[in-house]
Amino acid sequence: MNKFVRSLLGQTGLLVAFATTVATTFASSSVQAQSAAPAASAAAPAAAAGAKSVETKVAMCIGCHGIPGYQATFPEIHRVPMISGQSAKYIVSALNAYKAGERKHPTMRGIGGGMSEQDMAEVADWYASQAKPAVAEKPSREPSAQVAALLQKAACTSCHGANFSKPVDPAYPKIAGQHADYLFVALKSYKNEPNNVVGRSNGVMGGIAKQFTNAELKALAQYVGSLDSEMQVKPQSRFR
Ligand code: HEC
Ligand code: HEC
Repeated sequence: MNKFVRSLLGQTGLLVAFATTVATTFASSSVQAQSAAPAASAAAPAAAAGAKSVETKVAMCIGCHGIPGYQATFPEIHRVPMISGQSAKYIVSALNAYKAGERKHPTMRGIGGGMSEQDMAEVADWYASQAKPAVAEKPSREPSAQVAALLQKAACTSCHGANFSKPVDPAYPKIAGQHADYLFVALKSYKNEPNNVVGRSNGVMGGIAKQFTNAELKALAQYVGSLDSEMQVKPQSRFR
């Protein structure tokens, strides 16, 4: 178990139970994948039976990302981001950022830290496949004059796309219609880069977020969050 998770264990019983779930969901899956490997050439389905299915891997995620309206309460109160319909490359990139500690959110660091590249790729494909139909090229509503000026100042659409759903690079996030309260927390986190609970260090978004006041970031978040989205909260039944 990594040092970070261990340091959290002292803090709350909840996290003890949680870290155990992370460890059993992912660590044992790689052990099983290894032991299943020699059988792979014989019969693919038999080998698959030994490895953990993607359903098992996402079972833990659903507890937060699959519950409509579910709010995170620590370190800040906001709705948990929608990841059903987010692009797969960005999901992997975000998970790696938690794993590497570039994103400091404690729970997601614990989770990302326990995932292998393969876990991340499988889980990302599974979530990306749950997109709603593509949104129109034009954003579904016009910004106010104030928000239009803010968008222009940092050329948000040059990276996130004219409709904020078609980023120029698939490793960049879709943000249209994402929960506005989460977008605001995310934008502030790039500004609060050194903060070791909520900070995010990202060369690109750091320079952008720092140009704005929190009130301006909130206005941007509210506008982008109000647009039609390809993402959704997809309630899932527990698989096991
Ligand atoms: C205990 C609740 C919880 C669980 C369980 C959980 N997440 Fe998260 N997740 C969050 C919160 C809260 C955030 C926002 C963190 C932040 O502010 O950076 C988040 C952020 C993310 C992000 C970044 C989203 C974005 O738009 O940048 C991804 C990707 C993600 N989680 C994937 C997963 C996956 C995959 C699993 C399961 C393996 C999982 N999460 C399990 C609460 C959870
Ligand atoms: C030069 C390209 C670029 C520009 C311009 C840009 N972004 Fe970003 N944005 C990114 C990248 C790359 C990320 C992912 C950063 C990371 O991995 O944490 C991101 C992440 C975000 C996130 C976090 C999404 C999430 O799910 O956590 C928000 C919100 C966001 N951008 C909003 C904006 C807004 C609003 C503007 C204009 C004020 C803007 N961006 C301008 C590239 C850009």
